[in-house]
Amino acid sequence: MALPTSMKALILKSPGNGAIENTPVPQVLPGSVIVQVLHVLVYPVTPDVFHGTTANPNMTLPYPLVFGSPAIGRVAAIGPDTTAFKPGQLVLVDSNLRARDDPNVSAVWGAFDGFDETTKRFVKETWRDGAWAEYVRAPLESTWALNEDKLIGKLGLKTEDLLHLGLLPVLYSGLRKTDVKAGETVLIAPATGVFSGGCVAVARAMGANVIAGGRSEESLNALKARFPGIQTVKLTGEPSDVAAIQSFGKIDAFVDVGPSASTSATYLNTAMLSVRKGGRICLLGARGDATLPIPYLAMMFNDITIRGSCMFEAEHVRGLIRMAETGILKLSGEGGFEVLASYPFDKYAEALERGREISAGQIVVVNI
Ligand SMILES: NC(=O)c1ccc[n+]([C@@H]2O[C@H](COP(=O)([O-])OP(=O)(O)OC[C@H]3O[C@@H](n4cnc5c(N)ncnc54)[C@H](OP(=O)(O)O)[C@@H]3O)[C@@H](O)[C@H]2O)c1
Repeated sequence: MALPTSMKALILKSPGNGAIENTPVPQVLPGSVIVQVLHVLVYPVTPDVFHGTTANPNMTLPYPLVFGSPAIGRVAAIGPDTTAFKPGQLVLVDSNLRARDDPNVSAVWGAFDGFDETTKRFVKETWRDGAWAEYVRAPLESTWALNEDKLIGKLGLKTEDLLHLGLLPVLYSGLRKTDVKAGETVLIAPATGVFSGGCVAVARAMGANVIAGGRSEESLNALKARFPGIQTVKLTGEPSDVAAIQSFGKIDAFVDVGPSASTSATYLNTAMLSVRKGGRICLLGARGDATLPIPYLAMMFNDITIRGSCMFEAEHVRGLIRMAETGILKLSGEGGFEVLASYPFDKYAEALERGREISAGQIVVVNI
């Protein structure tokens, strides 16, 4: 099928200065496919990326560009070196941009173009344009086949439900890198945001015994109603938290998903100190603390492993898609997931604002 020559795309000329315009359809290049976009994902940070108001002033973009975020679509054209995709294939397009020849060069497609000149040039010269358009040129490494017969046919999901897969690989990556196994007890705190709630959902699907920590009993009760079977603990940041957490038994791992707003909040100290001897700690939020707030000797005596986790690798996306295709990770209400609202492309501004309201298990979708 020949591609049209022009398409509608949300062009962002500078922070907040965006409009849907006609623009040429991208050409396929080696190492890429052209995807006809069905849905793009809005989560709480998306409006701030659009308006240039994210908490981190280093999150810049190479204007002008086509706005971007994870997408679900169908392969419309394949490159000369494509072997696995065929036109019409349902795919996920993720936002994890990586240079093929240097693992140090990586950026979040559509959200920011990295911290150094090499990464900024990589984004600007090749991957400037994201998926808020009728067609997107996507790197093969960020394009993932989805089994439509299983996901839509057998499990009865809608294509827009599959957009949850646009953010969950981040959490599966952190849990896998921390070696979380079925039957283990994992503390996740905070737990009521989109990413932290996603961590609860994925850990539960992996067979872990999930303890969700947070400040508000009301939010934790709502989380428990969304993800039945989890346990919750109110964290005050006081030393008594350690006993409260340990009352659930030995904590094999703790995953911190604190946003930048939680910088210096003392739940981190007590959560880290609650982990059992030989346990693991994963830092995957965006706290701005310059140092870790835990006693050196407690970490040494208890043989604790602390690690960070940024984005994900191919095996994490493949593994997560398999969990969804087999129904182990349920991307529907049964699994605690919900599409809070979906909007037509020309109502993108309303969609961005609605995105600020979402919490654990929810996404907002724009249909292209
Ligand atoms: N590692 C990676 O590759 C990666 C990728 C994507 C995102 N992230 C990061 O993951 C972070 C978490 O995402 P999210 O969507 O879950 O975040 P979020 O919605 O902004 O916040 C999650 C929770 O943090 C708690 N919180 C907020 N302010 C706090 C404070 N002052 N003290 C203590 N707790 C506070 C709240 O829970 P309670 O009210 O229930 O306590 C809130 O629901 C983001 O900041 C994002 O940058 C990392």
